[in-house]
Formats: sequence, C-alpha cells, structure tokens
Amino acid sequence: MEHITVLLNESVDALNIKDGGIYVDATLGGGGHSELILSRLKNGHLYAFDQDTYALKRSEERLTKYTNKTLIHSNFEFMESKLKELGVTKVDGILFDLGLSSFQIDDEKRGFSYLKDYDLDMRMDQSNPLTAKIIVNTYSRQELADIFRLYGDENNAWHIAGHIVDKRPLETTSDLVKITDLVNRNVKGHSAKRVFQALRIEVNKELDVLEKALKSSLNLLNKGGRLVVISFQSLEDRIVKHFFKSNSEIHMPKHVDIRFIDKPPLKMINRKAILPSQKEYEDNKRSHSAQLRVAEKQ
Ligand SMILES: C[S@@+](CC[C@H](N)C(=O)[O-])C[C@H]1O[C@@H](n2cnc3c(N)ncnc32)[C@H](O)[C@@H]1O
Repeated sequence: MEHITVLLNESVDALNIKDGGIYVDATLGGGGHSELILSRLKNGHLYAFDQDTYALKRSEERLTKYTNKTLIHSNFEFMESKLKELGVTKVDGILFDLGLSSFQIDDEKRGFSYLKDYDLDMRMDQSNPLTAKIIVNTYSRQELADIFRLYGDENNAWHIAGHIVDKRPLETTSDLVKITDLVNRNVKGHSAKRVFQALRIEVNKELDVLEKALKSSLNLLNKGGRLVVISFQSLEDRIVKHFFKSNSEIHMPKHVDIRFIDKPPLKMINRKAILPSQKEYEDNKRSHSAQLRVAEKQ
C-alpha cells in the first residue's frame, strides 16, 4: 500500500518555511512531507533522515528532481552529529512524523504485522542486531512482562510472558499470536495488538531515541525555528508534550527578580495538539491516532 502522508499541510505550514532556510525531515519515509517542503523551499536545503534503506531508496526516486536535498541513512538520534559532519550546526525547522510507513507494515518480511505470518523481526533499521525474535527467546519472564505492560499497556502481560517462556523457541509472528489469542481470547480488539506494539518499541528503542532527538533539536534550532512533531501513540505523545511543556515554562524560585531570568528555550505555538480534519479521518484510517504538536525556539 502507498503511504498516505498524515497531516501534510498542517505540519508543513507549521514549519513556516522561509527562503534560504535549512530544514530537517527526521523521518523521510515515503517522502510525502519532504516533497511538500522542497516544493516550497527556495534557495534553501533539506536534510532528510531515515534508518530504513528501503525508505531512502523509494524517496530518492520520488524526490529526484530536487537538487537542494541530502538524504541520510541514520537513526534520527544521531541527527546533530550527522549534520555536523556535513558542516551544519543550525537549522530553521525540524519535522518528526513518527512510527512506521505503510510499506513497512505491509511488507510481511519485516514482521511488524500480526495479521501476516513471518519471522519475528520488527526492525526499522535492517542493520540493528536486536530483533523481536531475540527478545521473545532470550528475555526473562519478568523483563517481557515489564515491556508488555510499560510499552503496550497489556493487562495480561505476566500471563502472556509466562506462555512465551514455556513455548520457546518462538520463530514467527503466528507463534506469538497463538499465545495472545489464547490468553486474550475474551479481550476486545486484536489479541496481539498491544504485545506487538511493545515489542516494536523495544526492538527500535523508539522512546529513548525520541527523547534524545528532541534534545538535539533544541540545540540545532535557530531562534524562530520550528519543531513540529506528529505522534501516533500515547507514549510518544506524552514524551513530546512533556518536552514542550518543560522547555516552555519558567520555574521561578520565590523572591527572584524576573528581569534576571532567561526566557525558556521554546514557545508553544498550539496549546492543544492539532488533530486531522474529519475528511482526513474518513480518507485515511492511519490518521486516526495522529496528534501534531508545534513549538518555536526563542
Ligand atoms: C510515518 S513514516 C514517515 C512518512 C513520511 N513523513 C511521508 O510523508 O512519507 C516514519 C518513517 O520514519 C522512519 N523512522 C522512524 N523512527 C526513526 C528513527 N529513530 N530514525 C530514523 N528514521 C526513523 C521509519 O523508518 C519510517 O520510514
């Protein structure tokens, strides 16, 4: 399935693109956001990151007519050092569109989907040594249960972890689904949804790298530069919301003269997350959980 870009105009408008500016698309994917950024960018440059070589290859083709871009194979957690190697220390806007592209979910060989039977993999970066198979076959019951609870909000985490340990070695997505089907047989929705989400987060260390990349973004942004983040699940959104809030408020001790207090590094552009329009909800199922947050460096 083609990846349909979510909150496309809302997020690119939020970047406030100016002539000659330097922009970063931290999650290139199918190149939808990058394409719109490039179409609006005069005399500037776009640096786009993805940790998936397949996404880079697809987007290279899509964006071939634009010469003012550099596509970089890297986790966005290393954004700051990768840009520095290219002589870039400041940028005017950074966009994150978190999660997976549709073509990654649809490719059964990647093992992301509980609806398809394949190896338990779930790596966004094919060179990552950690796979979901290694996790289910080597982590302790306690470690598995913690991951399922923390990253998947799975009520039957301990129970599922116990069955996994008993049934080892697990090879494929359907080996795991058989267990969740058994334990979660009376639970609403797909039995494996929360466990798959949790494993994906653990394989790709999604929450850790997001925290690191948000901190790097603060260092990279010029004054007036925009930080634009689209998240698709509550754990990510909580990190983004907390980061924006804690960097846009002054925690002033009593009796301190306000004239001597520095401004916080960020100014929130929207108090509340921006959600997709009714039309986007209807046209693109993937947009249902999307939340867009925008802040400006000051
Ligand atoms: C939702 S898609 C982006 C879609 C893109 N905005 C578009 O319009 O086509 C997210 C992409 O970010 C990549 N990605 C996710 N986490 C990443 C990370 N930590 N570092 C680099 N790329 C990442 C994924 O491989 C995926 O291709």
